Amino acid sequence: MNTMVISFSCSASRKATWILALLFMMSRVHGQSTRGFVSVDCGLTNSSAYNDGITNIRFDSDRGYVAGGLSHTILAEYMVGSDEQQKTLRSFPDGSRNCYTLPSTFGKKFLLRATFTYGNYDGLNRTLDGSPFLFGLHIGVNFWDTVNLTNWDPSLTVWKEVLTVAPGNSVSVCLINFGSGTPFMSALELRPLLDAMYPFVNTSVSVGYFRRIRFGEATEYITRYPVDPYDRFWEGWSFSYNTYPWINLNTSSQVEILPGDDYFNVPMAIFQKATTLDTNYSFIVINASLGPNVVPESVRLLPIFHFAEINGNNMQRSFDIYNADDVLHRGFSPSRLQASSLYNSGQFLYNGDAVYTLNKARGSSLPPLINAFEVYSLLRMENFTTDSEDVNYIKQVKAHYNLTRIDWNGDPCSPREYTWEGLTCGYSSSNKNPRIVRV
Ligand SMILES: *[C@@H]1O[C@H](CO)[C@@H](O)[C@H](O)[C@H]1NC(C)=O
Ligand SMILES: *[C@@H]1O[C@H](CO)[C@@H](O)[C@H](O)[C@H]1NC(C)=O
Ligand SMILES: *[C@@H]1O[C@H](CO)[C@@H](O)[C@H](O)[C@H]1NC(C)=O
Ligand SMILES: *[C@@H]1O[C@H](CO)[C@@H](O)[C@H](O)[C@H]1NC(C)=O
Ligand SMILES: *[C@@H]1O[C@H](CO)[C@@H](O)[C@H](O)[C@H]1NC(C)=O
Ligand SMILES: *[C@@H]1O[C@H](CO)[C@@H](O)[C@H](O)[C@H]1NC(C)=O
Ligand SMILES: *[C@@H]1O[C@H](CO)[C@@H](O)[C@H](O)[C@H]1NC(C)=O
Ligand SMILES: *[C@@H]1O[C@H](CO)[C@@H](O)[C@H](O)[C@H]1NC(C)=O
Ligand SMILES: *[C@@H]1O[C@H](CO)[C@@H](O)[C@H](O)[C@H]1NC(C)=O
Repeated sequence: MNTMVISFSCSASRKATWILALLFMMSRVHGQSTRGFVSVDCGLTNSSAYNDGITNIRFDSDRGYVAGGLSHTILAEYMVGSDEQQKTLRSFPDGSRNCYTLPSTFGKKFLLRATFTYGNYDGLNRTLDGSPFLFGLHIGVNFWDTVNLTNWDPSLTVWKEVLTVAPGNSVSVCLINFGSGTPFMSALELRPLLDAMYPFVNTSVSVGYFRRIRFGEATEYITRYPVDPYDRFWEGWSFSYNTYPWINLNTSSQVEILPGDDYFNVPMAIFQKATTLDTNYSFIVINASLGPNVVPESVRLLPIFHFAEINGNNMQRSFDIYNADDVLHRGFSPSRLQASSLYNSGQFLYNGDAVYTLNKARGSSLPPLINAFEVYSLLRMENFTTDSEDVNYIKQVKAHYNLTRIDWNGDPCSPREYTWEGLTCGYSSSNKNPRIVRV
């Protein structure tokens, strides 16, 4: 029996033009609610909000969500075929931390996505000038990720996502200046999730997007809203692997998602497609590595595999699933037209290469199949926001004295190194929320 190693890799970003306008998507737009979506087009100078031409999602300008920063437009040569939201951005040349504040509901779970398209907006060719170009992102008072645009094609869009729980009735996203280039942001999107979804996400654990892939023959490079009512980005896999020995399966039959197996609410349209191999082959290696601008050495990852048997005959298939060289699930057999999502809750694994293998089990007549796949990295929410009464007090002080200080931005005391200038904060160990001691 032959075996085949299939290396799947691509960059963290996608040309915006890959998100194609599809008629069938347009016709479904009105069926799904965008209630609770907050969609911010950073740097938009046009006062009016607009509905995105592809998703029909309404985008607002970032006025009211951020203080400071400068509006810019990417160069005209990068505008062609670009998403509307990527055409403008807000840059933050001043201050070490600049925060956007979005409305939220205390304790609610949601997805937050920030996108970045440089588009040589400043004419400095910063992504290709040979020097490091990177800045940091915080979700509230905790580190989220690094945006690394070093050696980056200026037309490409980087996106970062986090699944998190609101620490209060607002949530802030902060850009951190590392001294290696001016931080900026192109768009910011908040999408509510159901509280039961992603059960390993809670007030102390958030997860960062590492990879989200759909298999089978997709018609668009990125599947998102309205196919996915939570507007997750699912990368299409078949654009890279659509020749022998790959076989793309599809069905028009309903795929059932049983109660108790609905932690991820993967759209049925995604379960109705899958990828497998010619029967001469026995294993699939998924290389979910993100490419050179992500350094995954220290990350701990949690993979989620989504399966439904959709082949047209009654032959049996079973396979083992490996994380690097360790078996995660043995002898798994997907049920016919019924969704199964395999994950080990709370078990974040060291596997910086993000390589997973599906290996045909002894006695199985068919090779493995897969419908969709998600991987998240562990983000510990170890720092606490400043006591909310103190925050309200200092905001009143700020308004009363008309203080428009640039560094009075984001949380007053947390994290420590970004404490507002002129404040003394107390970090007693018994009280987890820092307090303002002196102004
Ligand atoms: C601003 O709005 C006008 C009219 O709606 C439109 O023609 C123009 O392209 C918009 N500009 C930007 C930067 O979105
Ligand atoms: C940007 O820099 C790269 C590498 O030095 C060069 O090839 C390219 O022509 C430059 N582009 C612009 C618009 O200056
Ligand atoms: C929490 O705050 C400390 C002190 O400011 C900082 O060193 C640490 O990186 C923060 N942790 C996270 C997860 O951001
Ligand atoms: C579904 O699969 C059949 C072959 O089994 C193929 O002819 C058809 O084009 C596929 N449809 C889609 C939408 O992928
Ligand atoms: C599959 O293997 C069989 C037996 O080794 C061989 O005859 C056949 O040509 C192979 N099929 C393909 C498509 O390679
Ligand atoms: C996975 O892909 C990355 C990026 O292309 C590559 O550097 C790495 O060697 C690949 N790993 C394996 C095991 O194929
Ligand atoms: C940023 O990306 C560059 C180019 O791929 C890489 O050499 C560098 O190590 C990365 N830096 C960090 C901190 O990720
Ligand atoms: C949060 O989830 C992690 C696993 O993801 C678990 O270990 C931890 O106990 C949970 N914490 C709370 C406060 O529920
Ligand atoms: C606040 O300060 C701004 C700019 O410094 C000024 O334009 C404005 O009139 C001030 N408002 C009040 C109420 O003092």
